Amino acid sequence: MRYVVTGGAGFIGSAVCRAAIAAGASVLNLDKLTYAASLESLAEVEGCPRYAFRQADICDAAAVKAALADVQPDAILNLAAETHVDRSIDGPSAFVQTNMVGTATLLEGALAYWRSLSPERQGRFRFVQVSTDEVYGSLGAEGRFDENSRYQPNSPYAASKAGGDHLARAFAHTYGLPVVVSNCSNNYGPFQFPEKLIPLVILNAVEGRPLPVYGDGGQVRDWLHVEDHAAALLRLAARGRPGETYCIGARAERRNLDVVQAICAALDALRPSGAPHARLIAHVQDRAGHDRRYAIDPGKIESELGWRPRIAFEAGLRETVAWYLDHRAWWEPLRARYDRSRLGLAGAAA
Ligand SMILES: NC(=O)c1ccc[n+]([C@@H]2O[C@H](COP(=O)([O-])OP(=O)(O)OC[C@H]3O[C@@H](n4cnc5c(N)ncnc54)[C@H](O)[C@@H]3O)[C@@H](O)[C@H]2O)c1
Repeated sequence: MRYVVTGGAGFIGSAVCRAAIAAGASVLNLDKLTYAASLESLAEVEGCPRYAFRQADICDAAAVKAALADVQPDAILNLAAETHVDRSIDGPSAFVQTNMVGTATLLEGALAYWRSLSPERQGRFRFVQVSTDEVYGSLGAEGRFDENSRYQPNSPYAASKAGGDHLARAFAHTYGLPVVVSNCSNNYGPFQFPEKLIPLVILNAVEGRPLPVYGDGGQVRDWLHVEDHAAALLRLAARGRPGETYCIGARAERRNLDVVQAICAALDALRPSGAPHARLIAHVQDRAGHDRRYAIDPGKIESELGWRPRIAFEAGLRETVAWYLDHRAWWEPLRARYDRSRLGLAGAAA
């Protein structure tokens, strides 16, 4: 298999590149290298002759066209995105630009390329639009999202992802482009940019800084290890049914406060000098419009494609904490590179 992976220098995209190379595939990683990117996440594969990197923006039609013509991929996995909800509250237009305009540009390039293929290669080709459960809005205490859930995005991030997903589905419906959309729950694991909840809490704790918990911390997220997600996406690229949506998750719902406390417990064991790390927990003003609960029913990808998550949340979280403790050289430059002040407060002022 030959893949073009967009956003491959990001958290999930780099896991997809590593997994695809390990599986014997060829990969062109096409990434704009925004603040959230790290080419160091690809150190494991950069010497491999089947791996290549190209700095490009998915909004750049000529760059997209050239990449597809050069690589002649069997699948495109679109992970290029602006992804931080708090940043989308402060500045939505960058999210519209990449997540909607960029997705449209990539789809147009993919369509022209797909039309140039032989019927046999057209049948094998997939465009995997990697999306989130956040497009479905917020759940009450009961129930889970599945492929039939209504799109009801609440944050500018979720709305921009929903727009990209709608375009992808429209390209399948209108032009017959073999698009597969995935809606995945929250990911965690190594190489996640340190502004997201789990790495932020680990690194603040290591530095003795407050561990910010938004509101009462009772928001529920459904956690999936990034390597399980990467395996699911490669399966969709190989065998996902064109025009279909697949929900991906590991049935691992946890309250944010419980996740923060579990990180503290793991740190207490690994780094007793700072114990008890939970003394650093600080409840702060909640995010504007913060969704209360997400949960995914992954029954369709499990039964149709035989995918199963392999990493249990508690074990995966302990390994993730240990990974950050062991990989200071990876995160220290990133930590220095972004403004650590609280983001997303523009919503509260409105
Ligand atoms: N992180 C999660 O928990 C999660 C859950 C479900 C779905 N997703 C989706 O998975 C995808 C990847 O998420 P992530 O957490 O790895 O994101 P990330 O922020 O870690 O990485 C995004 C990558 O995309 C690149 N990028 C941004 N704009 C670009 C552009 N215009 N052209 C080319 N590259 C560009 C960045 O440089 C970066 O390397 C996103 O589409 C996101 O919506 C994420």
